[in-house]
Amino acid sequence: MFLITGANGQLGLSLKKLLKADQAYFCSHQDLDITNAIEPKKFAKVSAIINCAAYTNVEKAEDELELAFKINGKALKHLTDLSNNLKIPLIHISTDYVFDGTKNSPYLTSDKTNPLSAYGKSKLLGEEIFIKEAKCGLLIRTSWVYSEFGNNFVKTMLRLGKERAELSVVNDQWGSPTYATDLALTILQILNNEIRGVEIEHFSNSGAITWFDFAQAIMQEANLSCQIRSISSEEYKSKVKRPSYAVLDKKSIEEKYQIKLKDWKESLKTCLKNIG
Ligand SMILES: NC(=O)c1ccc[n+]([C@@H]2O[C@H](COP(=O)([O-])OP(=O)(O)OC[C@H]3O[C@@H](n4cnc5c(N)ncnc54)[C@H](OP(=O)(O)O)[C@@H]3O)[C@@H](O)[C@H]2O)c1
Repeated sequence: MFLITGANGQLGLSLKKLLKADQAYFCSHQDLDITNAIEPKKFAKVSAIINCAAYTNVEKAEDELELAFKINGKALKHLTDLSNNLKIPLIHISTDYVFDGTKNSPYLTSDKTNPLSAYGKSKLLGEEIFIKEAKCGLLIRTSWVYSEFGNNFVKTMLRLGKERAELSVVNDQWGSPTYATDLALTILQILNNEIRGVEIEHFSNSGAITWFDFAQAIMQEANLSCQIRSISSEEYKSKVKRPSYAVLDKKSIEEKYQIKLKDWKESLKTCLKNIG
């Protein structure tokens, strides 16, 4: 039996799609607020915690710094306390935005972090608490998460692509998209192994592209005639500084857990089919 926090988010709902109802406690924000201490007795039957709860609005985090730090940072103490108390692994999800993007080859799990945004800084605090406090668990950094659920880049592009003849998308930020179902499958596959100690892994789909490439592929695969115009990050009005290169190196997770990465375009096609 797993405990899944933030169960109504993209990753939470992707896990729900793959699991039977009696395989997990699917706790939404309302059911379980991770900013409060968690009573271990309630979850005595749990064999692993999968933390899908997070403050994920990157733009708003710049103004709601305190709340972002509370959810993405300080709340990790409640989750590591629960994991340590029950002696079960904690799977926690972090982000490529903990890096500054100045590298020009994929980021290793051991590379130096240096977040540029409030969101990235709040996620880094969560990582630090996880590493310091957890006795057993896995921190998985991922990037550009999309799914058939909630709000994400793919769904925004599909909506705007139907409404507009042209869209401007940045072409100087590199990364790898992650279909949330692929991440959910990977987490479940990893949990078939015994987790010992605490470690960091990276996961996304394979391939490195820009947001412009991603938008173009979405229009093409969805048969939308909307033209995508390439712009620079400077032209895109945002108060958030994002890494220009945030590709994660996934060799460690591939080798250690025999994870076979899916190509980003194949997974995009699967997601579009599921959106219908
Ligand atoms: N989305 C991305 O592009 C991306 C990229 C890299 C890494 N990640 C990481 O991947 C993980 C999963 O992201 P996602 O896209 O699935 O996020 P998501 O769709 O935004 O879901 C997050 C969930 O957490 C819930 N939540 C917020 N505050 C909470 C609290 N205090 N207690 C309990 N639940 C709370 C939210 O509920 P409410 O909406 O009701 O508040 C929401 O259902 C996160 O750790 C995120 O930082 C995401």
